[in-house]
Parts: sequence; structure tokens; C-alpha cells
Amino acid sequence: MIFVIEHLEPELFDWCKLEYKHISSVVGKDNLLFTNIDDDFLKNIGKVNRKSVLDLNLQNACILDPEAEEEFTPEVAKQFDYVIFGGILGAYPPKKRTAEELSNHLQVPKFNLGKEQMSTDTAVIVTKLICDGKKLSELKFQDGIEIDIAEGESVQLPYKYLILNGRPMLPDGLVEMLKEQEEF
Ligand SMILES: C[S@@+](CC[C@H](N)C(=O)[O-])C[C@H]1O[C@@H](n2cnc3c(N)ncnc32)[C@H](O)[C@@H]1O
Repeated sequence: MIFVIEHLEPELFDWCKLEYKHISSVVGKDNLLFTNIDDDFLKNIGKVNRKSVLDLNLQNACILDPEAEEEFTPEVAKQFDYVIFGGILGAYPPKKRTAEELSNHLQVPKFNLGKEQMSTDTAVIVTKLICDGKKLSELKFQDGIEIDIAEGESVQLPYKYLILNGRPMLPDGLVEMLKEQEEF
């Protein structure tokens, strides 16, 4: 399976870089394609195409969208060569950008990983586990996390997180980045 990330943020923010690095470390750079962007950082962690996935006409592709009706399962995964994601930072409440900017314009099947919003890295890694044979119902999740960034101060991340080894899975460096941002 090739994991395609259509970058849809106006810049390659540090937060996006951490998520994309996390994705690459799990799916491998040869199985990862970033579209709608041309950037040297990304060329080190995956393939890059400056064209939008909307113009690539990928064959045997599907898209993951929280608004889709049908769930992505190991059986579904076997039918496809490409799975497309929005490279979109989470927003609360969710803005339906995946549907509005991607899936409404692509003539490919759409699937969900449940209705709750995950970060792009969580969604890709959960999809990879499903491609490897796990069912969504066999995975553990937590809705929302709170990260302590300074004495008496915390940040709420109101998304759905995969529990791995008993803890919510986050990209390496995210907690440190949030703490540093607080210092400015
Ligand atoms: C942070 S989400 C963007 C969700 C955002 N609320 C929106 O406007 O669509 C980033 C990407 O992860 C994938 N994703 C996240 N949660 C998902 C879910 N529950 N089902 C399917 N895909 C999901 C989608 O590909 C989505 O474009």
C-alpha cells in the first residue's frame, strides 16, 4: 500500500513536520507520497509530487475521510494500492475540510476510521495497522489528551489517540515543541 498525504495547510508548519516524520518512521519512506507540495525536508522522508492528488489520476485509490459512511477494514484494504489522507491539522470543532477540499472532488471510494477526528499521523498509522490485518475494533483509543506544558498550565488536544503500550501515541518531539512555544 502507498500512503498518500495531500498537504493542505498554507505552510509546512513544524507541527506538520513532526506528524509527517512520525508517519514515515512507521510506513517507510518508499511507501509514502506527499502531494501538493515541493519541499526538501519531505524528500528525505518520502516521495514528493508538487501536483495535487486531484490531478494525478491514481488508479486503485481510496480516501480516508471521517465523513465517509463505510468503515475501512482489512478486507477493504486488500482492494487498493493507494490510500489518500488530508495533510490537515486538526481543528475543533471539525471543519470537514477533508470532504470539502478532497473527497468531494475525487471519484474514488471513501472510508472512515470511526466518526471522531484523529490527527493525520494517527489516522495513517491506524490505517497501516488495518492494512496489516487488525480490525478497528481490536485497537484501543482515547478521546482527547491533556499535555502539561508548564507549572499549572496545560494544552488540550481534543482528538482521538491510539493507545500503544498503555499510552496515547504522539509524534516524537511534539510535547517538547508545545513546551518551547509556551516560552515565547
Ligand atoms: C486532522 S484530520 C482532518 C479532519 C478535519 N476535521 C477535517 O476538516 O476534515 C487529518 C486527516 O486524517 C484522516 N482522518 C482523521 N480522522 C479520520 C477518521 N475518523 N476517519 C477517516 N479518516 C480520518 C483524514 O484523511 C483527514 O484528512
